[in-house]
Parts: sequence; structure tokens; C-alpha cells
Amino acid sequence: MSVKDFINYVRSKNLGDVLQDYPIAKDFLANFRLDGITKALPLPQALATVEEETLDEFGLNREGVLLKFCLFLEDFAQAEEATGTAASLTILGGFNKLKEPENINLTIASGEVVSVVGPTGSGKSRLLSDIECLAQRDTPTGRQILINGAALDELQRFEMGGKLVAQLSQNMNFVMDLTVREFLEMHAKGRLAKNTGEIVEKCFLCANELAGEKFSIDTKVTQLSGGQSRALMIADTANMSNSPVILIDEIENAGIDRRQAVELLAKSEKIIFISTHDPLLALRADKRIVIKNGGIDKVIEICEAERKSLAAIERIDHTLQMLRNRLRTGEIITEELLK
Ligand SMILES: Nc1ncnc2c1ncn2[C@@H]1O[C@H](COP(=O)(O)OP(=O)(O)O)[C@@H](O)[C@H]1O
Ligand SMILES: [Mg+2]
Repeated sequence: MSVKDFINYVRSKNLGDVLQDYPIAKDFLANFRLDGITKALPLPQALATVEEETLDEFGLNREGVLLKFCLFLEDFAQAEEATGTAASLTILGGFNKLKEPENINLTIASGEVVSVVGPTGSGKSRLLSDIECLAQRDTPTGRQILINGAALDELQRFEMGGKLVAQLSQNMNFVMDLTVREFLEMHAKGRLAKNTGEIVEKCFLCANELAGEKFSIDTKVTQLSGGQSRALMIADTANMSNSPVILIDEIENAGIDRRQAVELLAKSEKIIFISTHDPLLALRADKRIVIKNGGIDKVIEICEAERKSLAAIERIDHTLQMLRNRLRTGEIITEELLK
């Protein structure tokens, strides 16, 4: 919808109905001290009942408020639409560290999870960076990233760059000393989520489910453990991010339920790349990119046989976790435990 469409929409509906469609618009009214305005009329008529002085204070007349209101709704609608902007992402090969061509033309559709494996230093993070900056043959690898089959010019790259890709980095630096609730609320508002309260609650419950050790919504984010803050970031990204592409660089040692984390992200209809050394994560993906000497060496489709091995891997993982817990609590480890 264009601004014009929004003007027509706002004119034809009672303000109460508009607020039901766009609860975020309550914040707009509050900013202009218009919370008390009647909701039983369309905005233009409702504004007619407001004292001119109330609006004067903001240097606006009634028409000005109406226009600003419609621009606000349009901005919000656009932010929501951004979710749908990447139906596919294509990686066109460049060169590995030995300057050999990659010969790759790989297209990933939305909803797919791709793991990226390879020895340390092989170039996993580099591949994620190429995707993050939407490389156009201008990075050390010479790769090119297409969105929906098309190359991007500088302007599109700049405009999309911020919105298209969310990176879950290895270390979380919380700059402000907010509580978990304040942090989530800030994000929900910044991303213009429709129903802030509901989504904050959902994110919190989800983060707590992912985190090994539970935490309260009034905990300060700076007081969260590594695993808890990682869980919070994953829940936040899965539930609130408008970005259709998510990059996750090595989350193995984060003390979270990795299986659940991947399932949660996979459900979100986004394109997900995870660099990992963890078989549990790698085999849960749809495809696996193998990196060697800085280049994409192979792309493996996860087959039935591999997926079947997941159950056995999970048992091994459980055993290891049990051993870790016993170590932590000062117990003695014996062979008996492994039988
Ligand atoms: N195709 C390439 N050409 C040139 N340099 C590369 C290439 N791929 C990776 N590199 C460089 O190799 C180094 C190690 O890569 P990195 O992505 O950090 O490895 P990993 O994440 O697998 O440990 C980085 O400096 C990276 O920029
Ligand atoms: Mg790395």
C-alpha cells in the first residue's frame, strides 16, 4: 500500500479499527499526546475534536498529523514486507586460496538450512561474510551472491544489506544495562513489531527453553551467562528479525539446546547458514557445504542414511552431556557410567 492508499484507509475506518489492525499506531498517538482521542470516528473527524493548541505544540496542523500518521503506517508496512524479499539466494563460485576456480552455482530457497563445515582456517567465516556483504566479485574470494536470481547494484546492496541478513556472531556484547524484558521491548519496537507485549513474552519463553539454565525476565542482560545470552539472541532473531537470511557462526560451545535452536530457526521460513563442527547440527540441515583451502569443495544433500544416524549421535551427545554435568558437580567418572 502507498501513502495514498493509507490515507484512504485511515479516512474510511474508525480509528479504533485502525488500531486493531496496527496496534503499533498507539505509540504514534502517545508521542503526540493524542492517547485520549476518540476511537469511535475516523482519524480526520477524531482530530477535529482535538484542541488546535495540543497540535500546535508539535508544530503541526490536523492535516499534518494525518499525513504523518499515514507515513508511519506505510513505514511499518514496508518493514513487514521486507520479510518476503528473499525467496532464494545464489552463490556463484569464485576462487579458493590456491586461485583454483570453485565451479559452483548453488541456489538456496527460503526455508532451507545449510551447514558449512571444514577445518579451522579453511574459510567458513569467509563464506558467511561474503553472504553478509552480498559480495559482487569484490571480496578476496571473488564470489558473487544473487538474490532471487539477480545481481545487486551498489544502491540495492546498500539498501538490502542492513535488512536482508542477520548475523548471530560468536560473542554478544550488550552495550546497555537493560533487563531481558527491556532489551526485548526495545527490539520489538525498533523492528516495529505489531504486538510488542505478546512477542516479548514469546521470545522470552523461547529463550528460556533454549537455555540450559533458566533465567527471569527481570535479569539484567549483562548478568546472563554465555549460553543464556546466546539463547536470547537466537530467540530474538527467530521471532523478531525481519531478515530473511540468518548466518550463525559456530554456536557449539554456547551451552544451549542446539537441536532446538536449529529447529526453531528452521521453522521460521528463512534461509539459514550455520558454520559448525557439530554433527548434530550439520546433519539436521538440508544441505552441507564443505570448505577446503578457502573454496567450496563439495555440496552434500543430506540423505536418509545420514539422517538415520542422528538418533545414535544424539545418544552419544546425551552421554557426553551427562559426563560434563558429573564433572561439574565434582563426581567421579567411571566406566560403569558408559554401559
Ligand atoms: N577463497 C579465499 N581466498 C583468499 N582468502 C581466503 C579465502 N577463503 C578464506 N580466506 C581467508 O582465510 C582466512 C581463514 O578463513 P576463515 O573464514 O576465518 O576460516 P574458518 O572460519 O573456517 O576458521 C581468512 O583470513 C580468510 O579471509
Ligand atoms: Mg570461523
